[in-house]
Amino acid sequence: MADNRPIGVFDSGIGGLTVLREIIELLPGESTVYYGDNGRAPYGNKSHSTIIQYSLQDMRFLEEHNVKMIVIACNTASTHAYKTLAANSKVPVVEVVYPGATAAVKATRNGRIGIIATRATVSSGLYETAVRQKAQEMINLGINKEAMDNLSIIQQDCPLFVSLAEEGWWDDEIAVMTTERYLKPVKEFGVDTLVLACTHYPLLAGTISRFMGPDVTLINSGISVASVVRNKLIENNMMSDGSSVTREFYTSDDAAMFENVAAPFLGRGLPSGTQTVKVDRYDVSGCKEE
Ligand code: DGL
Repeated sequence: MADNRPIGVFDSGIGGLTVLREIIELLPGESTVYYGDNGRAPYGNKSHSTIIQYSLQDMRFLEEHNVKMIVIACNTASTHAYKTLAANSKVPVVEVVYPGATAAVKATRNGRIGIIATRATVSSGLYETAVRQKAQEMINLGINKEAMDNLSIIQQDCPLFVSLAEEGWWDDEIAVMTTERYLKPVKEFGVDTLVLACTHYPLLAGTISRFMGPDVTLINSGISVASVVRNKLIENNMMSDGSSVTREFYTSDDAAMFENVAAPFLGRGLPSGTQTVKVDRYDVSGCKEE
């Protein structure tokens, strides 16, 4: 029997829309509920426990919409809160780090990979661990072996990218200057693959790509995450029949502002009908932290 419940997707703001867009593209028959916690963004410079608390509240809100799956469309929340969310959820939870790491080790030819992310993601060290783990799996399978043997990783936090993305300043001169400042050492390191390990960063992909040059592959994990979502729906016998598809959007900040910034990226007349909802009211103190 078809499962027509929506998929719940959340992020600290508009960044998760880069994942939502790929989910809609790959699975147009699935309904979605999106929550952007713009009012409490950025998550990337919050403490571990605050990121967990916010993520649990985001998840509780989505659960009230009878979702069949939760997609953590945020690397910061994935690195800090995935285990806790998975342990406290009744439905499958999808994170974004491992799909991105997998795409990176498949793409690199020289083994030099750059990871750009929020401060909280970089300092957790989890993204680098995920890339190394995936590289080891490739070595074990004898895939892309030369590159994997030469694996060398550089990480760089780019906190201002989140503000630029939220502001809609994706390719103006301020974005260009900020990109040069953050990414000069990464370019000098000779990476051929750059992981956009924050879901806000694909919004600046044009500016980032122009600076890094045509030989550097940018990894936007959204595409890989969408296929993980599809596989999980199939595994769990949860595909919808494509009838009465709905798209709901919620933000914890100003709804018009959210729509104005997001519309040029999302297209298809979306987002529309966005409502402002705060999620501080959910008491998550009883949730067990993993
Ligand atoms: N989009 C989020 C991520 O992928 C977080 C950005 C932020 O709120 O700092 O990490």
